[in-house]
Amino acid sequence: MSISMKDEILKRILTANGEAVSGQELADSLGVSRTAVWKHMQSLQEEGYTFETVKKKGYVLTSVPNSLSPTQIELFLNTERFGREIHYFDIVDSTQTIAHKLAQEGAPHGTIIIGEEQTAGRGRMARPWESANGTGIWMTVIVRPDVTPQQASSYTLVVAVAVTMAIKTLYKHIEPAIKWPNDLLIKGKKCTGILTEMQAEADCVQALLVGIGINANQVASDFSPEIADIATSLRLEAGEEINRAALVASILQYLEQFTELYVKEGFVSIKKLWEQMSCTIGQRIEVTTLRGRFEGIASGITDEGVLQLTEDNGTVRTIYAGDIRI
Ligand code: BTN
Repeated sequence: MSISMKDEILKRILTANGEAVSGQELADSLGVSRTAVWKHMQSLQEEGYTFETVKKKGYVLTSVPNSLSPTQIELFLNTERFGREIHYFDIVDSTQTIAHKLAQEGAPHGTIIIGEEQTAGRGRMARPWESANGTGIWMTVIVRPDVTPQQASSYTLVVAVAVTMAIKTLYKHIEPAIKWPNDLLIKGKKCTGILTEMQAEADCVQALLVGIGINANQVASDFSPEIADIATSLRLEAGEEINRAALVASILQYLEQFTELYVKEGFVSIKKLWEQMSCTIGQRIEVTTLRGRFEGIASGITDEGVLQLTEDNGTVRTIYAGDIRI
């Protein structure tokens, strides 16, 4: 997919390594008028980029916004379809709600919805999800995999692997671990939650609405007292500011790659990676499900992504959905 003229101008200025880039040269090399270049520069300034104009030399970039605007994400994006349609909002109730509507209207596979802030962010079991302005990544991806609704239940695990891989690739010294089915923890504290909702008919999935919430740049005082002891952010763990746009792009790349594999070969193709990244298997856990509460050892995961719990009397239970306490 071709990148926009504005992105191309920004890319050239970003890659000039602090050297001035002349407006006339930009216009000539891109085959547009000097006024068109100026208009794109104005629009970049409105998005929060700042430039110094060096007389007779051109523009020097002085700062980039900490935003998840399409322009910022596209700078890092290396995918075919994921993230190629971006719906970006300063404030939304929940990106899930918007995704449901867009999916019903036919939004393509890989469409993403991002809000800088959510006023009614939600997690699993209708729990609220803290989504303060500009600190985290609050994103829903619309995925249209060719799988049955039964098979789709393991997709959350695929997403957890993709997000873990992206975090580990960009921030080598932090080690997120997957708590079945949908949490990423660092040193026992939650940094990411995944909420997968579905639009389906009896035997075919229309769309999966994959909500990903990542605590990226919060400092400790940003968390409410209710979650201060159990939540963390990537910034707190990595000791550096997180480039949210680069992280979104990397997640989308892994997600695209793993989704293709998952559709072709099933969850089994990702199972080994999931096992390596999980902090659940081998642990004593307590599981709350719709059928009741059970205790035992999380003894494994099936090729379909179903958790196996070995109870103290030796019974092996299969857990399709639930909440666990380690
Ligand atoms: C959980 O841990 O229970 C899942 C949390 C999922 C939060 C994300 S943020 C983006 C998307 N929009 C929402 O309202 N929720 C998900």
